Amino acid sequence: MSERFAIAILAAGKGTRLKSARAKVLHQIGGKALLRHVIDTALQVALADDIYVIVGHQAAAVEAAVGETGVGFVLQAEQGGTGHAIQVLRDAWQSSGQQYSDLLVLSGDVPLLALSTLKELRDFHLRERAAMTILTALPEDPAGYGRILRVKPGSPEVAAIVEQKSLAPDQVQLREINSGIYAFQTQPLFAHLDEVTAANASGEYYLTDMAALLVRAGERVVALAAPRTEEVLGANTIAEMVQLDATLRADKAKALMAAGVTIFAPESCVIDAEVEVGADTILEPFVQLRGKTVVGSGCTIRSYSVVQNSKLADGVLIRNSCVLDGATVETGAQIGPFAHLRPDSHIGADARVGAFVETKAMTMAAGAKANHLSYLGDAEIGAGANIGAGTITSNYDGVEKHKTVIGAGVFVGSNSALVAPVTIGEGAYVAAGSVITEDVPADALGIGRARQVNKEGWAAKRGAKKKS
Ligand code: UD1
Ligand code: CA
Repeated sequence: MSERFAIAILAAGKGTRLKSARAKVLHQIGGKALLRHVIDTALQVALADDIYVIVGHQAAAVEAAVGETGVGFVLQAEQGGTGHAIQVLRDAWQSSGQQYSDLLVLSGDVPLLALSTLKELRDFHLRERAAMTILTALPEDPAGYGRILRVKPGSPEVAAIVEQKSLAPDQVQLREINSGIYAFQTQPLFAHLDEVTAANASGEYYLTDMAALLVRAGERVVALAAPRTEEVLGANTIAEMVQLDATLRADKAKALMAAGVTIFAPESCVIDAEVEVGADTILEPFVQLRGKTVVGSGCTIRSYSVVQNSKLADGVLIRNSCVLDGATVETGAQIGPFAHLRPDSHIGADARVGAFVETKAMTMAAGAKANHLSYLGDAEIGAGANIGAGTITSNYDGVEKHKTVIGAGVFVGSNSALVAPVTIGEGAYVAAGSVITEDVPADALGIGRARQVNKEGWAAKRGAKKKS
């Protein structure tokens, strides 16, 4: 008979030790929820239809957060422990008629598990013909984890898992920990699952008790040590969460550097798990690349810039202290310093967006420039246009947003307000200091300000008056 694997991901617990209102598995490392990391790994060895996430605490929020992956959910309404969670899964399968020969159990709060290790666990489990295979590790400090009691040192066979709270004095020095990740044959697992009791310090049904119960029933229980301790560490506290985040980000930076990206002071940069960066791009210290950001090759991103869910083509320069969110920047464009590109900003090839310029829902065609002190929102700016310092698109009338269209080659003089809806025709000029409320035709000069009057001798006359 060929094996049919299901994957269960335990994610119903409250995460009491986090002291957080949010469900533990929805806390993020590397810009992605813990549970999502685990599901993404699981999806590489099983179909979504064969992945079951056990939810309970804040079930609706958890389902909403990861529902798009297509995995199934099983509700553990009351969280009676990890063993109880698997009982609930078994009962759900019984009612739906689902049958699997083997079950991989993952923990929603152990997010760094490598795909290669999960595959190795599955293969080792099959090779060993074991009823239960436990993934283990040897961390410096095993405190808090369940410990592995091997039948004898060096043997793959396990006698029991002992939870931290149940350790006998002579067991405290046991260093091999239970990762909470297992492979089971479902038949012996389900046959003996109800023998688990809650007679322990937590009053919970521990899945870890299955090791000794299966051994007692004459079944084979074995352990496989993970190649790297970090990948099986859990996140029970904020400090552990931050530690896993640091591990993930260090790995990410290393992978990017191996692919030709230069990252100065990588420990100071924040690069999310899903970010992509092309070769020959340089990231200066304290750069953040978040969410689904994609950076092309040959770009430079200077210090203190935060780029989120944005797309940069090749050869883009982001100077210091820029904030980009949901922006697209084409080849060779230069941004900043201190620019703020808000969602749906589209900066064309070789365009320039300079210091203290804020953009939103706008497009700037190739070679256009707005080098200083502007707000450009709900606007369309043509190729080669030059937007003078202090130009404001007055897009909001207090009720609705309106659009400003600036044609190719337009020159907008400094400190102009373009009161939308308004169109400046191709090649037109706007005089400095204008408030433009009507369209300016192509090639025209629009002046919208009071004409200057010089009063000769005025200061001297005023001076005379003052003295008298
Ligand atoms: C568990 C193991 C421990 C192991 C450690 C590894 C048990 C009894 N102990 O301890 O041996 O070293 O993981 O990280 O299993 N959950 C449910 N339903 C429940 C209870 C928990 O779905 O009723 C989920 C939690 O959301 C979590 C996972 O199971 O994702 C593990 O539970 P947790 O309470 O974190 O167990 P640990 O104390 O870490
Ligand atoms: Ca845990």
